Amino acid sequence: MAVEQRIGLTLWVNGKEHLLEASPRWSLADVLRHQIGLTGTHVGCEQGVCGACTVLLDGQPTRSCLMFAIQAQGHEITTVEGVTPTEGLSPLQQSFQSHHALQCGFCTPGILLTAEALLADNPTADEEEIRAALSGNLCRCTGYQFIVDAVLAAREQRRDA
Ligand code: FES
Ligand code: FES
Repeated sequence: MAVEQRIGLTLWVNGKEHLLEASPRWSLADVLRHQIGLTGTHVGCEQGVCGACTVLLDGQPTRSCLMFAIQAQGHEITTVEGVTPTEGLSPLQQSFQSHHALQCGFCTPGILLTAEALLADNPTADEEEIRAALSGNLCRCTGYQFIVDAVLAAREQRRDA
């Protein structure tokens, strides 16, 4: 049986450098989950449709299932763990909790990161812009209204702060 080739890889994730040995054909999602242990990045369709695997690459929402880990070298990667405080929840996460914006939670990490990027880029995003930004993140449980409500409430909270 052929031995799979591994190469040295350096990834910068959630503000920390990770030196890894990985196959050049492994996706960023798989390396984050299985090499680094950041299992908050979920893998659903593995073909760029569902958005469950969304991470931020230099602040931009990115499908980590569609990218080889090797391509992410030299970029700043943020996973859901990177936007979660050591204790408790972030304001956006708290808003999801208080607005019942999640059920099974499978889509939630990707949606949180997409919403974080949106509010960072456009702090006054309206409902239409929030829906457009989240249109690439599929949720099979919630019907989206509560998710949109949660993002709108977090936007208000940021504005007041
Ligand atoms: S797992 Fe990446 S888009 Fe579905
Ligand atoms: S909460 Fe279940 S898929 Fe979104």
